[in-house]
Parts: sequence; C-alpha cells; structure tokens
Amino acid sequence: MHGISDTSSRRVVVVGQGYVGLPVAIRAVEVGFDVVGFDIDQTRVERLRQAKSFIEDITDADLAVALSTGRFLATDDPVALAGFDIAVVCVPTPLRDGAPDLSHVEDSAALLAPHMSPGCCVVLESTSYPGTTEELFIPILEAGSGLRAGEQFAVGYSPERIDPGNTVWRLHNTPKIVAGIDPASLRALQDFYGRLVERTVPMPGPREAELAKLFENTFRHVNIALVNELAMYCHDLGIDVWSVIEAAATKPFGFMKFRPGPGVGGHCLPIDPSYLSWQVRRSLGHTFRFVDLANDVNDHMPDYVVSRVVKHLNQQRRSVNGATILLVGLAYKRNSGDIRQSPAIAVARQLDELGAELWAIDPFIEAHDVPSFITMVPCEVDQLTEADLVIVLADHDTIDWELFEQHAHRVLDTCNRLQSRSAARL
Ligand SMILES: NC(=O)c1ccc[n+]([C@@H]2O[C@H](COP(=O)([O-])OP(=O)(O)OC[C@H]3O[C@@H](n4cnc5c(N)ncnc54)[C@H](O)[C@@H]3O)[C@@H](O)[C@H]2O)c1
Repeated sequence: MHGISDTSSRRVVVVGQGYVGLPVAIRAVEVGFDVVGFDIDQTRVERLRQAKSFIEDITDADLAVALSTGRFLATDDPVALAGFDIAVVCVPTPLRDGAPDLSHVEDSAALLAPHMSPGCCVVLESTSYPGTTEELFIPILEAGSGLRAGEQFAVGYSPERIDPGNTVWRLHNTPKIVAGIDPASLRALQDFYGRLVERTVPMPGPREAELAKLFENTFRHVNIALVNELAMYCHDLGIDVWSVIEAAATKPFGFMKFRPGPGVGGHCLPIDPSYLSWQVRRSLGHTFRFVDLANDVNDHMPDYVVSRVVKHLNQQRRSVNGATILLVGLAYKRNSGDIRQSPAIAVARQLDELGAELWAIDPFIEAHDVPSFITMVPCEVDQLTEADLVIVLADHDTIDWELFEQHAHRVLDTCNRLQSRSAARL
C-alpha cells in the first residue's frame, strides 16, 4: 500500500454538510487542507456559497473566512470529488419503521468509489451499529473502485461527538475516537484527525469504535430516562426534584448530573440506542431491556407534559380547547435551532389536536421549519400576559428571561429556568 500514512495528503472531501460534516469541513480548511464540502441538498450548497450558515456552531463569518481562503468549495457536483486524498462521510443514519436506514451511507460509498485512487483514505463518521464499516461500507467502496481495502486504500471509522450549541467542547478540543481496519489505516486516520483535534483516541477496530459511540448515547438516553421518571414521581410525592438533583450533584465522585425535560430529540438520542437494540435483537435474539425502558419513559414525556397542562388549566377552570398557549423553545435542546424529533413539537401537536391556539417563541428556529399550526410571536409583554399558559420547553440563553419573571404569571417550566415562585415546574 502506498502513501496511506503520507501526511502531505491535502485534498479532503466531506460528504454531507450538516451538523457534523460542516464543522469537520471548516476545521479542515482552518488547518490548511483543500476541502470539498459535498451535499446533495442544492439549497444548502447555495447557502454555503453565500456564506449563510444554517447551524449554530458555524457562523456566517466562519464560512466567509473559509471561502476567502479559496480552499473551500461547497458543491453538489460529484465531478468535484475527483482526486481526493481523504474522504469523510457524515450523512444521516435515521430509522425507518424502527430499523436502521443506511441508504445514505450506501449512496455515499457508491458516490465516492469511482473517484478513489490508490493511497487514498476513506472514513465513516455517521453513527451506526457495529459492523457497518466492515460489512456494508467497505464492500461498496471495493466493488465501485476495484481497489482492495487495507492493501490499496486506508479505511476506518471515527464517530462524531459534535454537541450542537456547546461553546466549551468544540470539535477541536473534544477527544476523537479513531479506528482503522489495520495498523496502516489507523495511522492514516490519526495523521488526518491529529491535525484537526487536540487528541485522538485509537481503538482496536471499527466495531469497537462504532459501539463506543452507541454506548455514549445509550448511557445518556438511559440516565435522562431515569431522571425523567424520578421527576414524575417527585411531583406526585410533593418533592422538588430539582433540589434533589442539585444536592446529589455535589457528590464529587460516582454521580453524574442529568436533567429532566419534556423528552429527547435531535438526530442522536431517540435514534442511536435503537440501532444498538436492533442489532442485539437481530444478532443475538435478545431484547436490550435498558434501551426499551428508556425509550418508553422518554417517548412518553411529551404526554406527561400535556397531562400537566390539562391539570394546570383545569385548576383555572379552563380547558385546553380554546386556550392560547405560548410555547417557549421549540428546538429539541437549549441553544440549538435543531427541531428534528423535538419533544416540543410532540407537545405542540397534542395540544393542537386538543384545540389550543398555539403561539411560540424561539430565536434559533427558522420560520420554514415551524409547523403551520404554530404561530411565531415576538417575545413581548403583551404575548406573555395574554397567553392562558406559558410552557418553557427549551431554555435558550438568548431569551429575555427577566421579562418572563416579571410578566408571565401562568407558567409550566419544564427546564427549571425561572425563579418565580408562581411557576409550576416539571
Ligand atoms: N447532529 C448531531 O448532534 C450529531 C452528533 C453526533 C453524531 N451525529 C451523527 O452524524 C451523522 C450526520 O448527522 P447530522 O446531524 O450531521 O445530519 P444532517 O441532517 O444535519 O446533515 C446530513 C447532510 O447529509 C446530506 N446528505 C444526505 N445524503 C447524502 C449523500 N448521499 N451525499 C451527500 N450528502 C448527503 C444531507 O443533505 C444533509 O445536508 C448521523 O449519523 C448522526 O447520527 C450527529
């Protein structure tokens, strides 16, 4: 095999320019690579070319700087893939009818294969079950390129750990797991990612790296379910769950703080654990009980929030039908504009079916992402006082919370953001 660990490789292709792929592409430009950001979504490509970002971790200014170097090309034209040294695949891995949908990964491999040349390196970053790189991804690359993995090209897996909206842990300072199918492939991945991030974490092989990613997200999913269930019981017992959590979190060892909320969303949490349980069921015939239980609790949190809304309005001799309800935060989490699988939307949908008029405030969400049954309103005193109920579903830092403290008097706060004594909490 020639040139696989040659660190002078310069031309990088990043397939998929979303929450994961765009930060990788921009970081690769920053450290000096020539980068092609490839995406099949023409609208996204056009926006990138105009330096208009659609994710909160990359600003318009970041894009403008990358474009000004002349080393970043956003494109949907596969011709631009020719002659790459390193290709990184960051495409979606959703569920379809409860089973992994790897069609985007398959399409990406088929797209890259004809453009591969001896000595190149291909990396999969998309989250998937153990075995995806070796059993699904590599055979498509080999068949389409006529090259042998490990002998003529390097290949491996490196799971993304992007946490959208997190300003402390960014791509460059979050340790990055890397795995190759052989020592030379591992070296190629370490050479590449070693330039992008402060620390790489080598693993024995792609299967271990794939599982490490699923384990991270399953751990989070299960612990959020635990604290969500605790919150529901605490409410019935008349115990303030938030002070319980804060007190437990003062223990300096053996405890990690998770917060309850209206449910889980985004691309990772509600989906990744199901990749794991699907594989365990398919390969071993077993049920991954922790995953099923966590899914059950977290999936029902929007129902629980709606039941609390019904009770709250009932105490005021009001019904949901005909009430004006102001939803604060539609994204699936704080400081993010990502509305995918958002529990706030699940809550909104149920309230809409019950006949509520729905208003919403969310500075991060783009208007075209908002379902038609929700009316976006300005964050002003009139809206806060006119609403029959305000529900805090995502507590973005940029919202003027002081306004809520002063003027919102009928509130259900699922994030424990407000200090006001009158606000009901999860
Ligand atoms: N969003 C996160 O916080 C996060 C974190 C860690 C891991 N991941 C994983 O990373 C992967 C990507 O997630 P994302 O959030 O970046 O998704 P995304 O939807 O934000 O972006 C994916 C992009 O890939 C493009 N795409 C789809 N098929 C393509 C193809 N065949 N060729 C080129 N482009 C294609 C889409 O148009 C889209 O722009 C998933 O496997 C996800 O589980 C996501």
